[in-house]
Amino acid sequence: MTDYLSGFGNEHATEAIAGVLPEGQNSPQRVKHGLYAEQLSGTAFTAPRSENKRSWLYRLRPTAGRGAFALIDQGLWRSGPFDELPPSPNRLRWDPQPMPDGPTDWVAGMKTIAGSGDPAAGTGLAAHVYQCNQSMGSSVFYDADGELLFVPQAGALRLVTELGVLDVPPGHIAVVPRGVHFRVELPDGEASGYVCENYGALLRLPDLGPIGANGLANPRDFESPVAAYEDIERPTTVIQKFHGRLWATTMDHSPLDVVAWHGNLAPYRYDLSRFNTVNTVSFDHPDPSIFTVLTSPTSVPGTANCDFVIFPPRWMVAEHSFRPPWFHRNVMSELMGLVHGVYDAKAGGFAPGGISLHNCMSGHGPDQATFEKASSAELVPQKIDGTMAFMFESRWPFSPTQWAMETPALQDDYDSCWAGFAKAELP
Ligand SMILES: [Fe+2]
Repeated sequence: MTDYLSGFGNEHATEAIAGVLPEGQNSPQRVKHGLYAEQLSGTAFTAPRSENKRSWLYRLRPTAGRGAFALIDQGLWRSGPFDELPPSPNRLRWDPQPMPDGPTDWVAGMKTIAGSGDPAAGTGLAAHVYQCNQSMGSSVFYDADGELLFVPQAGALRLVTELGVLDVPPGHIAVVPRGVHFRVELPDGEASGYVCENYGALLRLPDLGPIGANGLANPRDFESPVAAYEDIERPTTVIQKFHGRLWATTMDHSPLDVVAWHGNLAPYRYDLSRFNTVNTVSFDHPDPSIFTVLTSPTSVPGTANCDFVIFPPRWMVAEHSFRPPWFHRNVMSELMGLVHGVYDAKAGGFAPGGISLHNCMSGHGPDQATFEKASSAELVPQKIDGTMAFMFESRWPFSPTQWAMETPALQDDYDSCWAGFAKAELP
């Protein structure tokens, strides 16, 4: 049983050994027990106070004490600029990826579907999937290119991080900040899911506007780990993702050796079942932005680098309305996944673990079966239950990777779900 600290982006203070945290300052001349004080900055030193994210770590050895990194094989990880292929304007959908045949840990099991922007420029994101069947053992990973939003689909993840341990079963999400070292363990033996690698502004809770002070994801339901450290002397491979490539070095001990920390930059998890869903109680289908859990803003107000949006269980009560998502063309680009259940805009073809991509201005919406059914359904109150779809929505169009366009999981008949609509009959 792991303890957690509540609150989104709060100042936390936690120590695995009582009395380690310095009082009244961050880096005293001598930290208790000879621990090393180290600041981890998630924003520029001079970022406005409301944006500023940093934590102070008190560790057995400083992170600086390691040798040079060397390039390693990067498998199917890809990063911006995503220029392997001409970006596709077509609507695309993928079936779930199979589990690998041989032993595969989370780093090796990561595959990049699509992305945008450039980590060096601080814009865009990458959408990845992972399928893995082996814990990371004596290796740890950190991402210098962006923060990682985990959306487990099957099998729990145990994220053993520098700042403590997060258990993340399907139905939860987790975010690991840029630079935080962690190891992915698999309590269920294998796991698959999705990851959004956010190169842009840090994910945060959306403003609520007229909704008021409460609702959607409430801050107190976000949980960060209490301090937990490893004092392990064994060869440990540290893998970092830097500017799109994977690099590795070997140390003689675990770098997950932070005995205490304080600050407002930390990994966190969130149980999606706690999302307070807001929707119409009169008519029409509101824009899906009402389901935004987290957002990475850009300098253009309301126009996100990435919105993380969910489609949770909810009541549908709209009167004289077409209740499923309508036909639309969006200036924003939409990449969707499905944790479990059925998404209400599609009668089939979008399986748990699958992905759909509707890029900027590509027309999409309900498939024909859903359209016919919803156009004539009796509009009694209806509970959509047992489902959790989600979307990474971005102002930047997604460019699929070469692997994503060549995998057998790419469906070759996706367009056909919209092929049979009859022409409207004018009087
Ligand atoms: Fe859409």
